[in-house]
Amino acid sequence: MFFFKLFLLSFVPSTLSHDGFNSHLLPRPLIMQYPEHTETRFEKSNEELELECTSWRFAVETNNLSPWKTIPEECGSYVKDYMMGRGYKADLERVSSEAGIYAMSLQLSGDGKDVWVFDVDETLLSNLPYYADHGYGLEIFNPVEFDKWVYRGMAPGIEPSLKLYEKVLNLGFKVFLLTGRSEKQRSITIENLTKAGFRSWDKLILRDSEDQDKPATVFKSEKRSKMVEEGYRILGNSGDQWSDLSGSSPSNHSFKLPNPIGYSLLRDPRHNKGLAFTGNERDSHYLRGLLPPVVLTHQLQEKKLMHNICQYQVPLQRYTALMELQERNERLFYKLLIDNVDELLTVVYTPTVGEACQKYGSIFFQSN
Ligand SMILES: *[C@@H]1O[C@H](CO)[C@@H](O)[C@H](O)[C@H]1NC(C)=O
Ligand SMILES: *[C@@H]1O[C@H](CO)[C@@H](O)[C@H](O)[C@H]1NC(C)=O
Repeated sequence: MFFFKLFLLSFVPSTLSHDGFNSHLLPRPLIMQYPEHTETRFEKSNEELELECTSWRFAVETNNLSPWKTIPEECGSYVKDYMMGRGYKADLERVSSEAGIYAMSLQLSGDGKDVWVFDVDETLLSNLPYYADHGYGLEIFNPVEFDKWVYRGMAPGIEPSLKLYEKVLNLGFKVFLLTGRSEKQRSITIENLTKAGFRSWDKLILRDSEDQDKPATVFKSEKRSKMVEEGYRILGNSGDQWSDLSGSSPSNHSFKLPNPIGYSLLRDPRHNKGLAFTGNERDSHYLRGLLPPVVLTHQLQEKKLMHNICQYQVPLQRYTALMELQERNERLFYKLLIDNVDELLTVVYTPTVGEACQKYGSIFFQSN
């Protein structure tokens, strides 16, 4: 049955490109659309590309980017230039100096309960050398290699963060380090923080075994809530991921450090599992905060997608939804197509699919 369906798929384009096919009324065949799309990419001017990649990066940093969108492949060298050039440094320096101005503006109580929370990776320590060796996130992320890198303890300190760190210590803040790193990595983390110039923190909180499967936002919120229960006032929080900063018991003022590289894994549609990453996978792949805090299986994701596609009344919109899926998650796109070939072929053929849609609506809600 599987092979039969595959055969059907490859049969579609030739059938549809037949003379009788009216391309003004019906969308063009799914599979033939692809090369045309690639061609337009090459026509983009450098200026246009730069603009688009800057806009994309802005959306990443502001947490506006839909978790389903992948990093545009053509922004690879843009990201590299940003990370290695003045851009990333300038952004780090600005965050640090603005945080410093805020810290100095506060009147501390002097009871030792005023706290500044720092994340570790990409906030105090930089894994940039690792990413430089691995294509700045263009290469598929290898969690085993990354762990090896962490254990080597080679991560250099982030200078602007060190400045802020010393400033808040001198102002009399308690400094709590809250990291998604594992408790097993405590000693190498201490060693590396110390070598990089970070001294005398008041707490170093890592993820122990019971925290392993918690999304970063949950883990960090729990730890912050505990601080608040203990009577601490979290006045400042520095982190490079939104999952460092959002959630419950937030600080009075959060400072988001730049980091466009966390998206590396989402970048390749062939390896993008979208919402189907498990908690552990999300952690080791640095995806915390980039995906919504739910883990859906592929099966449920498929049902949800079918449901969404069927919601569109206009056939062209259904078709567009499918094309968008192909772009952001190729693996899921083909799986969806193969598993639902009867229903999805009608999206291309005859744009009236009421029955299948009703079916999927109910299937999806049942499994909820
Ligand atoms: C930690 O960081 C520094 C640079 O800041 C680096 O030179 C050192 O090798 C790292 N490793 C350890 C184990 O501290
Ligand atoms: C921090 O936020 C809390 C809760 O909103 C508020 O009561 C407190 O005054 C704030 N502290 C400072 C120093 O702004």
